[in-house]
Amino acid sequence: MSDKIGVAILAAGLGKRMGVDIAKPLIPLMGKKLLDFSIDAAADFARSHSLNAQFGVVVGHQKEKVAEHVKLHHSDKEISFPFQKEQLGTADALRSYFNDCPWAKDTDFTLVLCADTPLLTSTELSTLWEELKTNQAKAVAASFKTPKPTGYGRIVRFDKGFQIVEEKDASEEQRQITEVNSGLYIFETKMILENLASIDSNNKAGEFYLTDAFKKDSDVYPVCFDSETPFLGVNSPVQLSNALHQLKLRINESLQASGVLVMDKAHTYIEPTVQISAGTTIYPNCFLHGETTIESGATVEPGTIIKDSVIKTGVLIKAYSYLENALVGESCQVGPYARLRPGTDLGEKVKIGNFVEVKKAKLEKAVSVSHLSYVGDAEVGENVNIGCGFITCNYDGEAKHLTKIGKDSFIGSDTQMIAPINIGERAFVASGSTINQDVPDEGFALSRSRQVTKEKMASRFLKGKWAIKKG
Ligand code: UD1
Ligand code: MG
Repeated sequence: MSDKIGVAILAAGLGKRMGVDIAKPLIPLMGKKLLDFSIDAAADFARSHSLNAQFGVVVGHQKEKVAEHVKLHHSDKEISFPFQKEQLGTADALRSYFNDCPWAKDTDFTLVLCADTPLLTSTELSTLWEELKTNQAKAVAASFKTPKPTGYGRIVRFDKGFQIVEEKDASEEQRQITEVNSGLYIFETKMILENLASIDSNNKAGEFYLTDAFKKDSDVYPVCFDSETPFLGVNSPVQLSNALHQLKLRINESLQASGVLVMDKAHTYIEPTVQISAGTTIYPNCFLHGETTIESGATVEPGTIIKDSVIKTGVLIKAYSYLENALVGESCQVGPYARLRPGTDLGEKVKIGNFVEVKKAKLEKAVSVSHLSYVGDAEVGENVNIGCGFITCNYDGEAKHLTKIGKDSFIGSDTQMIAPINIGERAFVASGSTINQDVPDEGFALSRSRQVTKEKMASRFLKGKWAIKKG
């Protein structure tokens, strides 16, 4: 039988130092919220050890919003929301967890995580777990050494057991200790239940410290990690940007190792949900978000933003383009400065040029829209060439209407299609036309007014420096 583990995530704190009116667990970072990282790390860890995990996210500040987010984004997990009425300290938060989660007392182990350590992964949790098991310990705490221990609880080791002394309560001598507490623990549930009851608030902060559960002469161990990075806490805007920097490097370096040419790992933002195949080139200052997939041989030039889109093999996205919910077929070229809005579906070898906007439109193989156009609510057949300055007039103030253009047609520059409208196959629409009637297959349509030219009449209109000198 697999071990039952209860995961307590302490997320009731105010997060005052962040300076924003968003509960700290909900602060956004690389497409997720801070709290999501802790939940995901714990879930990965439980899965990799085949543990039977149940989650309790201790909420307090903005509790409804925190719970709503978690329910929406982690619907695949069993999660309860114990409520801590007053933020009386980390031990009090864990008491709320045991009080409000009836299943928690029946677990074999209790893993405690904070909601503000986004760099933590299942790797550190696994190390901690293995140490607990190997040493048959009653509890383990993750620690690390740092030249700047200020603010952290210090680890005081004994021949058997250890204590954590909080900064406020530490003696001058204890403050010199550089091994500090990360706030990540695994307890035998029986042990922590026994200990929690006796934790008091007789300390400088007047708080119930969970760290008081660790004692001299008991079977508890600190597990000292080599790197501080996975435990980096986010308590301030500066720490948030440090975490973002580390996370971005981690993602970019792992992509580089898998054969993606991330040209500048310090200035490229790729969310962990994005999938990129080997043999793809990503230039600096790109932001790749959400459920985006980029296939091999694609190139994404600088300053491009891509959200929830699929980019097929051999595509070239030129600089400063903005794509959202778009499908870009094999060997397409898009941009520079193109905007592909939701519902864009480009077949292979489509060419979208500069200052072109496409929305909810299907463009078949080898369509070309090279300059300054808007194609919205449209179906465009294979090989259609659309000239410069084309507009689908898709909206009548009430509803959106469809423009259809059949394959192999040629649409001249500066034309407008007043939708709903159907242009047949192999049709030709002359430049400067406003088309409000259907054009049949092989039809030719021209709607501009006839040109009038008057000889020598320019002098009546040319003034100032343009005036034509007489004689
Ligand atoms: C805690 C540890 C300290 C450690 C540090 C690592 C204690 C007493 N101290 O201090 O040894 O070095 O983390 O970062 O545990 N929370 C609640 N309810 C509360 C208080 C806190 O849910 O009443 C939550 C917070 O939202 C946060 C976590 O617990 O996610 C840690 O609380 P925080 O106040 O940040 O503890 P530290 O002072 O950082
Ligand atoms: Mg903290």
